[in-house]
Amino acid sequence: MSRTIGALLITATLATGIMPATAANAPEVKLNPDQRSGVTGTVLITGSNRGIGLELARNYAERGWTVIATARKPASADALNEIASHHPLVTVERLDLLDHAGIDTLAAKYRDTPIDVLLNNAAILGEPNDQLFGSLDYDLMKNVFAVNVIGPMKVAEAFAGSVEQSKLKKIVAITSTQGSISSVRSPGLVFYNLSKAALNMSMRSNSKGLKKRGITVALVSPGAVDTDMMNLALDRAGVKFKLLTPQESAEAVINVIDQYGLDLTGTFMSHTGTVIPW
Ligand SMILES: NC(=O)c1ccc[n+]([C@@H]2O[C@H](COP(=O)([O-])OP(=O)(O)OC[C@H]3O[C@@H](n4cnc5c(N)ncnc54)[C@H](OP(=O)(O)O)[C@@H]3O)[C@@H](O)[C@H]2O)c1
Repeated sequence: MSRTIGALLITATLATGIMPATAANAPEVKLNPDQRSGVTGTVLITGSNRGIGLELARNYAERGWTVIATARKPASADALNEIASHHPLVTVERLDLLDHAGIDTLAAKYRDTPIDVLLNNAAILGEPNDQLFGSLDYDLMKNVFAVNVIGPMKVAEAFAGSVEQSKLKKIVAITSTQGSISSVRSPGLVFYNLSKAALNMSMRSNSKGLKKRGITVALVSPGAVDTDMMNLALDRAGVKFKLLTPQESAEAVINVIDQYGLDLTGTFMSHTGTVIPW
């Protein structure tokens, strides 16, 4: 398959809307993404220096939450540091998903701090042209898995004790409709799609054990959002379509997270609060 055709197929997938919740195991629920709960607590966010993560940090800060906003390179996280300068409850910390020792060190620092929402947001797309059958770059595949699957699993494991001490007790992963096996319509972005399906399975599996500890595991897809990641995908495909702003996505995602509870643990939902089939 030519790269151009592959890129067009990537676009067809990205532009696809949320599938209706027809899967046998998908509960018939619909949360309200326009409903603010007014609840506050402590949230830790990965990848909060740009894109959706930055707006999640800003939105939580504006709601009065205590925010542990993490970034790979805090010193150059200008937009995030600007938010922290206006919100005394925002602390910027270093966290690289590829640095497991560093994750453990940060978790030890916050060992006695209750974390209400542990928000695994950071991820990479990987170069779209290097994940087409016939020209697959397996080193890239390993890297995408290390960041998008192993990283969030390690963060969840390292910080679960802090989540357990909190009032709300939620571990959240920002996933993608690209990880919905039953929704796949094109062969593009195979590493990214695989990584999000694996992330979904890892969080779904974790939800079974963590429910006994009172911890809710939430999977939320943020919609098609105007960020570096989405623009890389659209650029390679050579097309444009209307995207949510990161602010719109963050607001809706947080409202959905607010309404998640143990009754819905392990569910895969969109930013519109609709269950997505696996
Ligand atoms: N944008 C969309 O339309 C869309 C759609 C569906 C799902 N999502 C998901 O939404 C989440 C946020 O995506 P986005 O669009 O905001 O992406 P983005 O703008 O590309 O931002 C990605 C973030 O992840 C961080 N990151 C990358 N590698 C990391 C690592 N090894 N350790 C720690 N942080 C790392 C980046 O930090 P650096 O600045 O240091 O690289 C950056 O903060 C992701 O999980 C993505 O898969 C996005």
